[in-house]
Amino acid sequence: MNYDEITDRLMSTLKPKRYLHSVGVAYTAACLAMRYEYNIDTAYRAGLLHDCAKSMSDEELLDYCEKHDIEVSEYDRKSVNALLHSKVGSVLAKEEYNETDEKVCSAIRWHTTGKKAMDLLEKIIFVADYIEPSRRPLPNLDHIRRLAFEDIDTAVLKIYESTILYLKSIKEDDIDPLTIEAYEYYRNITEKTT
Ligand SMILES: [Fe+2]
Ligand SMILES: [Fe+2]
Repeated sequence: MNYDEITDRLMSTLKPKRYLHSVGVAYTAACLAMRYEYNIDTAYRAGLLHDCAKSMSDEELLDYCEKHDIEVSEYDRKSVNALLHSKVGSVLAKEEYNETDEKVCSAIRWHTTGKKAMDLLEKIIFVADYIEPSRRPLPNLDHIRRLAFEDIDTAVLKIYESTILYLKSIKEDDIDPLTIEAYEYYRNITEKTT
């Protein structure tokens, strides 16, 4: 699919604010790709597509997972839309948007939770999703936006710190162990380089 076809389809499925966010992530990802010498087209496309499943209801997401053999964890069931739109999006990108680049699908798959040892595109989309211009103000956002263009691993670490603080503030300690594992991974690798 070319960009016009992708944006037409996204415009017809996403709410206007979500569409604007997707375009913001695409351009931010393209800028990060320039900074870190990654393929700009690939980063832009992954940014455009990253929330392609976001407009699906919880029922539709769960149904899609069942039909496509997508694993649903106990944490996914607690926050269906927040966690499953990335897993479903990575398959939907292939099926509905003819995305053939596995790296793009993987960046979509991991954009919400991140994971330890992400590849560069996964980090670019994880960070771009957090810092794109239409994001509502979050604590530390200005600092993280600057860091993203200085050292992307440190930006990933700071995003985890903010996310964990936020999750603790609303649900106490009920945090996916994979998030804690990823946070510790980036804390260790950034400590070694600073
Ligand atoms: Fe998302
Ligand atoms: Fe997003």
